[in-house]
Amino acid sequence: MGQSLQVALIKGDGIGVDVSEAALALLDAALQKTGQTRISYREIAAGAGYFSETGRDIETGGEQAAGQADAIFLGAIGLPTIRHADGTEISPHLRLRDIYQLYAGVRPVRAYPNAPQRLADPRARDIDLVILRESTEGLFYSAAVHGRSEVIDDQEVRDVLRITRSTTEKLHRFGFELARKRKQRGSPGKLTCVDKANVFVSMAFFRQIYDEIASDYPDITTDYNYVDAQALDLIRRPWEFDVLVTENMFGDILSDLAGGLVGGMGMAACAEIGDHTGLFQPAHGSAPDIMGADRANPLAAILSAALMLEYLAQKTDRPALLDAAGLIDAAVYQGFAQNRIRPLEFGGNMGTRAVTRELLTLL
Ligand SMILES: NC(=O)c1ccc[n+]([C@@H]2O[C@H](COP(=O)([O-])OP(=O)(O)OC[C@H]3O[C@@H](n4cnc5c(N)ncnc54)[C@H](O)[C@@H]3O)[C@@H](O)[C@H]2O)c1
Repeated sequence: MGQSLQVALIKGDGIGVDVSEAALALLDAALQKTGQTRISYREIAAGAGYFSETGRDIETGGEQAAGQADAIFLGAIGLPTIRHADGTEISPHLRLRDIYQLYAGVRPVRAYPNAPQRLADPRARDIDLVILRESTEGLFYSAAVHGRSEVIDDQEVRDVLRITRSTTEKLHRFGFELARKRKQRGSPGKLTCVDKANVFVSMAFFRQIYDEIASDYPDITTDYNYVDAQALDLIRRPWEFDVLVTENMFGDILSDLAGGLVGGMGMAACAEIGDHTGLFQPAHGSAPDIMGADRANPLAAILSAALMLEYLAQKTDRPALLDAAGLIDAAVYQGFAQNRIRPLEFGGNMGTRAVTRELLTLL
Protein backbone atom coordinates (compact mmCIF):
# COMPACT_ATOMS: atom_id res chain seq x y z
CA MET A 1 0.00 0.00 0.00
CA GLY A 2 2.75 2.48 0.92
CA GLN A 3 2.37 6.10 1.93
CA SER A 4 -0.69 7.91 0.76
CA LEU A 5 -0.41 10.18 -2.24
CA GLN A 6 -1.21 13.85 -2.04
CA VAL A 7 -2.59 15.83 -4.94
CA ALA A 8 -3.03 19.60 -4.90
CA LEU A 9 -6.52 20.31 -6.19
CA ILE A 10 -7.55 23.58 -7.79
CA LYS A 11 -11.14 23.32 -9.00
CA GLY A 12 -11.17 26.94 -10.14
CA ASP A 13 -14.05 28.58 -11.96
CA GLY A 14 -17.16 27.72 -13.94
CA ILE A 15 -17.31 24.15 -15.23
CA GLY A 16 -13.84 23.60 -13.74
CA VAL A 17 -15.63 22.74 -10.49
CA ASP A 18 -18.00 20.21 -12.07
CA VAL A 19 -15.43 18.43 -14.20
CA SER A 20 -12.96 18.26 -11.28
CA GLU A 21 -15.56 16.55 -9.14
CA ALA A 22 -16.31 14.10 -11.95
CA ALA A 23 -12.60 13.32 -12.35
CA LEU A 24 -12.15 12.79 -8.61
CA ALA A 25 -15.08 10.37 -8.50
CA LEU A 26 -13.48 8.28 -11.26
CA LEU A 27 -10.02 8.48 -9.67
CA ASP A 28 -11.28 7.27 -6.32
CA ALA A 29 -13.31 4.46 -7.86
CA ALA A 30 -10.39 3.26 -10.02
CA LEU A 31 -8.03 3.25 -7.03
CA GLN A 32 -10.53 1.39 -4.90
CA LYS A 33 -11.20 -1.14 -7.65
CA THR A 34 -7.47 -1.87 -7.98
CA GLY A 35 -7.04 -2.01 -4.20
CA GLN A 36 -4.71 0.93 -3.87
CA THR A 37 -3.93 3.73 -1.49
CA ARG A 38 -6.38 6.54 -1.73
CA ILE A 39 -5.27 9.95 -2.83
CA SER A 40 -5.61 12.76 -0.31
CA TYR A 41 -6.44 16.14 -1.78
CA ARG A 42 -5.09 19.47 -0.62
CA GLU A 43 -7.63 21.87 -2.03
CA ILE A 44 -6.27 25.27 -3.03
CA ALA A 45 -8.57 28.23 -3.58
CA ALA A 46 -7.71 30.10 -6.77
CA GLY A 47 -9.30 31.66 -9.80
CA ALA A 48 -11.45 34.54 -10.94
CA GLY A 49 -14.20 33.91 -8.39
CA TYR A 50 -11.66 33.83 -5.58
CA PHE A 51 -10.06 37.01 -6.94
CA SER A 52 -13.35 38.90 -6.94
CA GLU A 53 -13.92 37.94 -3.30
CA THR A 54 -10.41 38.47 -1.95
CA GLY A 55 -8.35 40.52 -4.44
CA ARG A 56 -5.89 37.60 -4.71
CA ASP A 57 -5.80 35.09 -7.56
CA ILE A 58 -4.60 32.20 -5.38
CA GLU A 59 -4.69 31.64 -1.62
CA THR A 60 -1.63 32.72 0.35
CA GLY A 61 1.03 30.04 0.05
CA GLY A 62 -0.99 28.31 -2.67
CA GLU A 63 1.85 28.07 -5.17
CA GLN A 64 4.18 26.49 -2.61
CA ALA A 65 1.49 24.06 -1.43
CA ALA A 66 0.85 23.04 -5.05
CA GLY A 67 4.55 22.28 -5.53
CA GLN A 68 4.78 20.23 -2.34
CA ALA A 69 2.12 17.74 -3.46
CA ASP A 70 2.92 14.72 -5.62
CA ALA A 71 0.98 16.29 -8.49
CA ILE A 72 -1.44 19.13 -9.23
CA PHE A 73 -4.94 18.71 -10.65
CA LEU A 74 -6.76 21.72 -12.04
CA GLY A 75 -10.30 22.19 -13.37
CA ALA A 76 -10.29 25.53 -15.18
CA ILE A 77 -9.42 29.09 -14.28
CA GLY A 78 -10.73 32.41 -15.52
CA LEU A 79 -13.99 34.23 -16.21
CA PRO A 80 -14.02 36.83 -19.00
CA THR A 81 -16.01 39.28 -16.87
CA ILE A 82 -13.44 39.38 -14.06
CA ARG A 83 -10.14 41.03 -14.94
CA HIS A 84 -7.12 42.83 -13.56
CA ALA A 85 -6.99 46.60 -13.95
CA ASP A 86 -4.81 46.24 -17.09
CA GLY A 87 -7.49 44.16 -18.79
CA THR A 88 -5.74 40.79 -18.53
CA GLU A 89 -7.51 37.78 -17.07
CA ILE A 90 -6.91 36.03 -13.79
CA SER A 91 -4.42 33.24 -14.54
CA PRO A 92 -2.39 31.96 -11.56
CA HIS A 93 -2.08 28.59 -13.36
CA LEU A 94 0.31 30.17 -15.89
CA ARG A 95 2.55 31.14 -12.99
CA LEU A 96 2.57 27.53 -11.80
CA ARG A 97 3.79 26.48 -15.24
CA ASP A 98 6.59 29.00 -14.95
CA ILE A 99 7.56 28.41 -11.30
CA TYR A 100 7.73 24.63 -11.72
CA GLN A 101 9.10 24.75 -15.30
CA LEU A 102 6.46 22.39 -16.65
CA TYR A 103 8.12 22.07 -20.04
CA ALA A 104 6.49 18.92 -21.38
CA GLY A 105 2.93 19.61 -22.51
CA VAL A 106 1.29 16.29 -23.38
CA ARG A 107 -1.89 16.40 -25.49
CA PRO A 108 -3.27 13.01 -26.49
CA VAL A 109 -5.54 12.97 -29.55
CA ARG A 110 -7.54 9.79 -29.98
CA ALA A 111 -10.60 8.87 -32.02
CA TYR A 112 -13.31 7.06 -30.07
CA PRO A 113 -16.06 5.01 -31.69
CA ASN A 114 -19.38 6.89 -31.91
CA ALA A 115 -17.67 10.19 -31.06
CA PRO A 116 -17.55 12.89 -33.74
CA GLN A 117 -15.26 12.05 -36.64
CA ARG A 118 -14.61 15.18 -38.67
CA LEU A 119 -12.82 13.52 -41.59
CA ALA A 120 -14.73 11.42 -44.13
CA ASP A 121 -11.84 8.99 -44.69
CA PRO A 122 -12.64 5.78 -42.74
CA ARG A 123 -9.03 5.62 -41.49
CA ALA A 124 -9.88 8.60 -39.27
CA ARG A 125 -11.19 6.05 -36.78
CA ASP A 126 -7.57 4.99 -36.23
CA ILE A 127 -6.32 8.41 -35.10
CA ASP A 128 -4.27 7.89 -31.96
CA LEU A 129 -1.43 10.37 -31.53
CA VAL A 130 0.12 12.62 -28.91
CA ILE A 131 1.29 16.17 -29.40
CA LEU A 132 4.20 17.00 -27.13
CA ARG A 133 4.31 20.76 -26.86
CA GLU A 134 7.24 22.47 -25.18
CA SER A 135 5.53 24.79 -22.72
CA THR A 136 8.02 27.16 -21.10
CA GLU A 137 9.97 28.83 -23.89
CA GLY A 138 9.75 28.86 -27.72
CA LEU A 139 7.65 31.71 -29.03
CA PHE A 140 5.85 32.02 -25.69
CA TYR A 141 9.10 33.05 -24.01
CA SER A 142 8.20 36.70 -24.42
CA ALA A 143 4.42 36.24 -24.34
CA ALA A 144 2.38 38.91 -22.57
CA VAL A 145 2.28 36.96 -19.33
CA HIS A 146 6.06 37.22 -18.99
CA GLY A 147 6.27 40.88 -19.98
CA ARG A 148 9.44 40.29 -22.01
CA SER A 149 8.33 41.74 -25.35
CA GLU A 150 10.37 44.64 -26.65
CA VAL A 151 8.06 47.55 -27.45
CA ILE A 152 9.73 50.34 -29.40
CA ASP A 153 7.95 53.70 -29.30
CA ASP A 154 4.56 52.46 -30.35
CA GLN A 155 6.18 51.69 -33.75
CA GLU A 156 7.44 48.17 -33.43
CA VAL A 157 7.12 45.14 -31.17
CA ARG A 158 9.55 42.23 -31.00
CA ASP A 159 8.77 38.84 -29.52
CA VAL A 160 11.56 36.34 -29.03
CA LEU A 161 11.56 32.66 -29.98
CA ARG A 162 13.88 31.07 -27.45
CA ILE A 163 15.23 27.52 -27.71
CA THR A 164 17.63 26.40 -24.98
CA ARG A 165 19.74 23.27 -25.08
CA SER A 166 18.84 22.22 -21.54
CA THR A 167 15.06 22.33 -22.02
CA THR A 168 15.18 20.92 -25.54
CA GLU A 169 17.31 17.95 -24.51
CA LYS A 170 14.82 17.14 -21.75
CA LEU A 171 11.88 17.62 -24.10
CA HIS A 172 13.19 15.30 -26.80
CA ARG A 173 14.18 12.70 -24.25
CA PHE A 174 10.65 12.90 -22.84
CA GLY A 175 9.31 12.43 -26.40
CA PHE A 176 11.43 9.35 -27.09
CA GLU A 177 10.51 7.84 -23.73
CA LEU A 178 6.83 8.48 -24.43
CA ALA A 179 7.09 6.88 -27.88
CA ARG A 180 8.79 3.88 -26.27
CA LYS A 181 6.08 3.55 -23.62
CA ARG A 182 3.39 3.71 -26.28
CA LYS A 183 5.25 1.16 -28.41
CA GLN A 184 5.02 -1.32 -25.54
CA ARG A 185 1.24 -0.93 -25.80
CA GLY A 186 1.14 -1.50 -29.54
CA SER A 187 1.76 1.93 -31.09
CA PRO A 188 4.28 2.18 -33.96
CA GLY A 189 7.04 3.76 -31.82
CA LYS A 190 7.69 6.85 -33.87
CA LEU A 191 8.64 10.38 -32.84
CA THR A 192 8.13 13.12 -35.43
CA CYS A 193 10.14 16.31 -34.96
CA VAL A 194 7.91 19.18 -36.10
CA ASP A 195 9.85 22.36 -36.78
CA LYS A 196 10.77 24.99 -39.32
CA ALA A 197 14.41 24.02 -39.57
CA ASN A 198 14.59 25.11 -43.19
CA VAL A 199 14.15 28.76 -42.22
CA PHE A 200 14.96 29.47 -38.57
CA VAL A 201 18.33 28.89 -36.93
CA SER A 202 16.53 28.30 -33.63
CA MET A 203 14.52 25.51 -35.25
CA ALA A 204 17.59 23.97 -36.90
CA PHE A 205 19.06 23.88 -33.38
CA PHE A 206 15.86 22.21 -32.11
CA ARG A 207 16.25 19.54 -34.81
CA GLN A 208 19.97 19.11 -34.18
CA ILE A 209 19.28 18.31 -30.52
CA TYR A 210 16.53 15.91 -31.60
CA ASP A 211 19.12 14.03 -33.70
CA GLU A 212 21.58 13.93 -30.81
CA ILE A 213 19.03 12.43 -28.43
CA ALA A 214 17.70 10.05 -31.11
CA SER A 215 20.96 8.11 -31.05
CA ASP A 216 20.03 6.86 -27.56
CA TYR A 217 16.74 5.42 -28.88
CA PRO A 218 17.51 3.11 -31.82
CA ASP A 219 14.21 1.29 -31.20
CA ILE A 220 12.18 4.42 -32.02
CA THR A 221 11.61 5.50 -35.62
CA THR A 222 12.73 9.07 -36.31
CA ASP A 223 10.69 11.31 -38.57
CA TYR A 224 10.68 15.00 -39.53
CA ASN A 225 8.05 17.39 -40.74
CA TYR A 226 7.97 21.15 -41.27
CA VAL A 227 5.15 22.69 -39.31
CA ASP A 228 3.25 23.92 -42.38
CA ALA A 229 3.40 20.46 -43.95
CA GLN A 230 2.37 19.03 -40.57
CA ALA A 231 -0.80 21.14 -40.59
CA LEU A 232 -1.63 19.68 -44.00
CA ASP A 233 -0.78 16.14 -42.90
CA LEU A 234 -2.97 16.35 -39.80
CA ILE A 235 -5.88 16.64 -42.22
CA ARG A 236 -4.52 14.36 -44.96
CA ARG A 237 -3.08 11.43 -42.96
CA PRO A 238 -3.31 11.95 -39.17
CA TRP A 239 -3.61 8.19 -38.60
CA GLU A 240 0.06 7.78 -39.63
CA PHE A 241 1.46 9.75 -36.66
CA ASP A 242 2.39 8.51 -33.21
CA VAL A 243 4.13 11.19 -31.08
CA LEU A 244 4.86 14.69 -32.44
CA VAL A 245 7.35 16.89 -30.61
CA THR A 246 7.36 20.61 -31.22
CA GLU A 247 8.01 24.16 -30.08
CA ASN A 248 5.50 25.98 -27.84
CA MET A 249 3.54 28.07 -30.36
CA PHE A 250 3.46 25.39 -33.07
CA GLY A 251 2.22 22.94 -30.46
CA ASP A 252 -0.40 25.39 -29.24
CA ILE A 253 -1.89 25.67 -32.72
CA LEU A 254 -1.50 22.08 -33.87
CA SER A 255 -2.99 20.61 -30.70
CA ASP A 256 -6.23 22.54 -31.19
CA LEU A 257 -6.35 21.47 -34.82
CA ALA A 258 -5.72 17.85 -33.87
CA GLY A 259 -8.24 18.04 -31.02
CA GLY A 260 -10.84 19.22 -33.51
CA LEU A 261 -10.32 16.07 -35.58
CA VAL A 262 -11.65 13.83 -32.84
CA GLY A 263 -14.42 15.84 -31.24
CA GLY A 264 -14.11 19.07 -29.35
CA MET A 265 -12.77 20.72 -26.23
CA GLY A 266 -14.58 18.27 -23.98
CA MET A 267 -12.19 15.50 -25.09
CA ALA A 268 -8.94 17.48 -24.86
CA ALA A 269 -6.91 16.06 -21.98
CA CYS A 270 -3.63 17.65 -21.00
CA ALA A 271 -0.59 17.01 -18.81
CA GLU A 272 2.14 19.56 -18.15
CA ILE A 273 5.18 17.89 -16.69
CA GLY A 274 8.42 19.25 -15.28
CA ASP A 275 11.37 17.72 -13.44
CA HIS A 276 9.70 17.88 -10.01
CA THR A 277 5.95 17.93 -10.49
CA GLY A 278 3.18 17.74 -13.05
CA LEU A 279 -0.03 19.68 -13.57
CA PHE A 280 -3.01 17.85 -15.05
CA GLN A 281 -6.00 19.66 -16.47
CA PRO A 282 -8.51 19.57 -19.29
CA ALA A 283 -7.30 21.86 -22.09
CA HIS A 284 -10.62 23.72 -22.10
CA GLY A 285 -11.56 26.75 -20.05
CA SER A 286 -14.36 27.52 -17.60
CA ALA A 287 -17.03 27.60 -20.35
CA PRO A 288 -19.13 30.41 -18.83
CA ASP A 289 -21.78 29.87 -21.53
CA ILE A 290 -22.73 26.51 -20.02
CA MET A 291 -21.59 26.78 -16.39
CA GLY A 292 -23.92 25.71 -13.62
CA ALA A 293 -26.10 23.85 -16.11
CA ASP A 294 -24.78 20.27 -15.81
CA ARG A 295 -23.94 20.43 -19.51
CA ALA A 296 -20.12 20.14 -19.49
CA ASN A 297 -18.47 17.09 -20.95
CA PRO A 298 -16.26 15.80 -18.10
CA LEU A 299 -14.19 13.45 -20.29
CA ALA A 300 -11.23 15.80 -20.85
CA ALA A 301 -10.86 16.14 -17.08
CA ILE A 302 -11.34 12.41 -16.51
CA LEU A 303 -8.76 11.49 -19.15
CA SER A 304 -6.39 14.06 -17.60
CA ALA A 305 -6.85 12.29 -14.27
CA ALA A 306 -5.80 9.04 -15.97
CA LEU A 307 -2.68 10.80 -17.27
CA MET A 308 -2.00 11.89 -13.69
CA LEU A 309 -2.16 8.28 -12.47
CA GLU A 310 0.33 7.25 -15.16
CA TYR A 311 2.63 10.05 -14.06
CA LEU A 312 2.30 9.12 -10.37
CA ALA A 313 2.97 5.47 -11.19
CA GLN A 314 6.36 6.39 -12.55
CA LYS A 315 7.19 9.19 -10.14
CA THR A 316 6.38 7.24 -6.98
CA ASP A 317 7.38 3.85 -8.37
CA ARG A 318 3.93 2.30 -8.01
CA PRO A 319 3.31 0.43 -11.25
CA ALA A 320 -0.10 -0.68 -9.94
CA LEU A 321 -1.34 2.87 -10.52
CA LEU A 322 -1.06 2.10 -14.23
CA ASP A 323 -3.85 -0.45 -13.76
CA ALA A 324 -6.09 2.25 -12.33
CA ALA A 325 -5.26 4.56 -15.26
CA GLY A 326 -5.95 1.73 -17.69
CA LEU A 327 -9.35 1.12 -16.07
CA ILE A 328 -10.38 4.73 -16.61
CA ASP A 329 -9.20 4.73 -20.23
CA ALA A 330 -10.98 1.45 -20.89
CA ALA A 331 -14.22 2.69 -19.32
CA VAL A 332 -14.20 5.74 -21.61
CA TYR A 333 -13.42 3.61 -24.66
CA GLN A 334 -16.06 1.01 -23.84
CA GLY A 335 -18.57 3.71 -22.94
CA PHE A 336 -18.31 5.11 -26.45
CA ALA A 337 -18.03 1.72 -28.18
CA GLN A 338 -21.22 0.51 -26.47
CA ASN A 339 -22.89 3.87 -27.02
CA ARG A 340 -23.41 4.18 -23.28
CA ILE A 341 -21.84 7.63 -22.98
CA ARG A 342 -23.50 10.25 -25.12
CA PRO A 343 -22.30 13.73 -24.04
CA LEU A 344 -24.53 16.71 -24.78
CA GLU A 345 -21.46 18.31 -26.37
CA PHE A 346 -21.72 15.80 -29.23
CA GLY A 347 -25.48 16.07 -29.63
CA GLY A 348 -26.17 13.33 -27.09
CA ASN A 349 -28.51 13.40 -24.12
CA MET A 350 -26.11 13.13 -21.16
CA GLY A 351 -24.91 15.96 -18.95
CA THR A 352 -21.88 15.98 -16.67
CA ARG A 353 -23.42 13.92 -13.91
CA ALA A 354 -25.01 11.34 -16.21
CA VAL A 355 -21.74 10.72 -18.07
CA THR A 356 -19.90 10.38 -14.76
CA ARG A 357 -22.49 7.96 -13.32
CA GLU A 358 -22.36 5.77 -16.42
CA LEU A 359 -18.57 5.64 -16.36
CA LEU A 360 -18.65 4.64 -12.69
CA THR A 361 -21.03 1.83 -13.61
CA LEU A 362 -18.78 0.73 -16.47
CA LEU A 363 -15.78 0.78 -14.18
N1 LIG B 1 -6.51 26.29 -18.56
C1 LIG B 1 -7.55 27.04 -18.28
O1 LIG B 1 -7.97 27.06 -17.16
C2 LIG B 1 -8.21 27.83 -19.37
C3 LIG B 1 -8.07 27.48 -20.71
C4 LIG B 1 -8.77 28.20 -21.66
C5 LIG B 1 -9.57 29.26 -21.27
N2 LIG B 1 -9.66 29.59 -19.96
C6 LIG B 1 -10.56 30.65 -19.48
O2 LIG B 1 -11.91 30.16 -19.54
C7 LIG B 1 -12.81 31.24 -19.83
C8 LIG B 1 -13.64 30.91 -21.04
O3 LIG B 1 -12.79 30.79 -22.17
P1 LIG B 1 -13.27 30.36 -23.63
O4 LIG B 1 -14.73 30.54 -23.73
O5 LIG B 1 -12.37 31.00 -24.59
O6 LIG B 1 -12.91 28.81 -23.72
P2 LIG B 1 -13.69 27.55 -23.12
O7 LIG B 1 -12.83 26.35 -23.39
O8 LIG B 1 -14.09 27.78 -21.73
O9 LIG B 1 -15.02 27.44 -24.02
C9 LIG B 1 -14.99 27.43 -25.45
C10 LIG B 1 -16.26 26.74 -25.98
O10 LIG B 1 -16.15 25.34 -25.77
C11 LIG B 1 -17.20 24.86 -24.95
N3 LIG B 1 -16.64 23.90 -24.00
C12 LIG B 1 -15.46 24.01 -23.34
N4 LIG B 1 -15.29 22.96 -22.54
C13 LIG B 1 -16.37 22.18 -22.68
C14 LIG B 1 -16.78 20.95 -22.10
N5 LIG B 1 -16.02 20.31 -21.19
N6 LIG B 1 -17.98 20.43 -22.45
C15 LIG B 1 -18.74 21.05 -23.37
N7 LIG B 1 -18.42 22.22 -23.96
C16 LIG B 1 -17.24 22.78 -23.61
C17 LIG B 1 -17.74 26.08 -24.23
O11 LIG B 1 -19.10 25.91 -23.86
C18 LIG B 1 -17.53 27.19 -25.26
O12 LIG B 1 -18.60 27.22 -26.16
C19 LIG B 1 -11.92 32.46 -20.03
O13 LIG B 1 -11.92 33.19 -18.85
C20 LIG B 1 -10.55 31.89 -20.32
O14 LIG B 1 -9.49 32.74 -19.95
C21 LIG B 1 -9.02 28.89 -19.00
